[in-house]
Amino acid sequence: MANREKSIKLLNKGVAKEIETVLQYLYFQFHFEDKGYTHLAKLFKSVAIKEMMHIDMLSDRILFLKGDVIMKPVSDIVYLEKKDNKIDLDIKKVLQIAADMESKTVDLYNDFAKQCGEEGDATSKRLFEKLIEIEEEHQDTFDIEGDNYEKFGDTYLALQTIQRVQGNDEDGHTDVGMS
Ligand SMILES: [Fe+2]
Ligand SMILES: [Fe+2]
Repeated sequence: MANREKSIKLLNKGVAKEIETVLQYLYFQFHFEDKGYTHLAKLFKSVAIKEMMHIDMLSDRILFLKGDVIMKPVSDIVYLEKKDNKIDLDIKKVLQIAADMESKTVDLYNDFAKQCGEEGDATSKRLFEKLIEIEEEHQDTFDIEGDNYEKFGDTYLALQTIQRVQGNDEDGHTDVGMS
């Protein structure tokens, strides 16, 4: 097998990005749960689990290439600000942060896929391309949630929660990418 040091490095950068995303989304989930925003709490939890599966996919490839997995986030997460000694859960802002994270990940993985292709590592290239598709779905989901929230405000979130209580929509209304 050709020397795959470059791919291993890129795959680990992917792992770092995914870890950061998992931590960020779990942090948001805790706050949504705490405030009773069930719909968004479930959404963030479900996407965080998908991102965790991405760590698994990237790690499999790293180990196959005889590298080791570096379990470290790219950078620290964004914490919510405090106002009058209370944490300010700005829903629009949180959804924007999430959509931006996904969009940055898409850019990053497009670049990594290109670099893996240049190195002749088609499998790692395909892995990044597969992840790009899923991250774009995530971005779309957060954008739609943000738009709906802007249009309908808290009424929209209340309706989502009521729908779920009635059993119409147990997994959240959005498909956030299954693989
Ligand atoms: Fe991901
Ligand atoms: Fe994502």
